[in-house]
Amino acid sequence: MPYTPESVWELSITPNVTNGVGAVEELGAIGGEFGAESALVVTDAGLAEAGVVDDVTATLDPIEYTVFDGVEPDPDVGIFEAAIEEAGAVDPDLIVGVGGGSSMDVAKTTSVVAEHGGDVLDYVAEPTGEGVPVPGPGIPTIAVPTTAGTGAETSPVTVISLPEEDLKVGISSRYQRPDAAVLDPALSVSLPPGPTASSGIDALSHAVEAYVTRPYDAKPSPERRADRPDYNGRSPVTDLFARSAIERIGDNLRTVVDNGQNLDARRNMLLGSFMAGAAFTNAGLGATHAIAMAAGAIHHTPHGVTIAHALPAVIRYNATSAYDRYAEIAELLGENTTGLSRDESAEAAARAVEKLTEDVGLGGGLSSLGVEESDVPHLAERANQLERLLAGNPRRIDRDELEAIIRDAL
Ligand SMILES: [Fe+2]
Repeated sequence: MPYTPESVWELSITPNVTNGVGAVEELGAIGGEFGAESALVVTDAGLAEAGVVDDVTATLDPIEYTVFDGVEPDPDVGIFEAAIEEAGAVDPDLIVGVGGGSSMDVAKTTSVVAEHGGDVLDYVAEPTGEGVPVPGPGIPTIAVPTTAGTGAETSPVTVISLPEEDLKVGISSRYQRPDAAVLDPALSVSLPPGPTASSGIDALSHAVEAYVTRPYDAKPSPERRADRPDYNGRSPVTDLFARSAIERIGDNLRTVVDNGQNLDARRNMLLGSFMAGAAFTNAGLGATHAIAMAAGAIHHTPHGVTIAHALPAVIRYNATSAYDRYAEIAELLGENTTGLSRDESAEAAARAVEKLTEDVGLGGGLSSLGVEESDVPHLAERANQLERLLAGNPRRIDRDELEAIIRDAL
């Protein structure tokens, strides 16, 4: 068979997005569009105690609701099962995920498992799970992010931690993508500077990785539509989302870290994070996320901070494969690349990211998170297994190169 290149791209995003100060006031009306009379609100105890959940549920009227506030960071199977059990008891016709990526993920998987039955691990890919495809739509789900970073409000993937096995696994299904997202900056003002900074850098990396990932037509054509991977390569539309996200995050992240109550900057960060999510969940990611996912699973390093330390080293490694794109990224981040050589332009992008991470208090390297020189070979080995992420990396990469990048990022 001669090689047949892909000639088609797809774009899937959350179909309704309501963004702006006061957007959450429309939550009940959005639920009404799904015919909902009862809702399960999935969130964490911190947001419940801070009163943020009350601010959200107050807008649900006349929809009756029950709050499940048992979500924790990096949720394990038990947390997913508890939320699904609660959904079984309440029998809601709407699920609302309020919080960061963890709460939205638990809400999304609860929606499909509560609807179709079975265990959470049934839907996780083999060999850890059974690899059963989600058979159809779940209970209508609205995502209400209170952090700007993960893009979970438009992602079809949920991440489940298996702490005893130092493993994070995922469920990927188009039926897990939320039906609506409400992006209200007022809900994110109480997020402290540290998580604001790290989640913002995570979003920046989603956009940067999506902007340089391999294009849709530089890969083989699938035999059937169903065989096309979720990460189907960058397209003109993912480029549009990625560029706008990089610019918004570059222009606003320092402001939201320095003054979390600047609602215009918070609005731009939520929008930038959503756009970055729309870009990467369709285009794909690359080596930065492979390293961060492996470090998160083995060393339990916080995701966004790990990304902050890894991204500049990956840009330097990838530079030869995407000079022009990194030059554009440098410009979008406020650097002037006029008169610079190709090497210097790519270096300007790496430096711009380093400056941003330092300015928001995330300077340092992976060693500051407890990753030691002796950990590097194992970490590289594990990152090298994340083929779905590495397939999109613009430059050919293997275990040895990952080792070199991780050393550079220590
Ligand atoms: Fe991420």
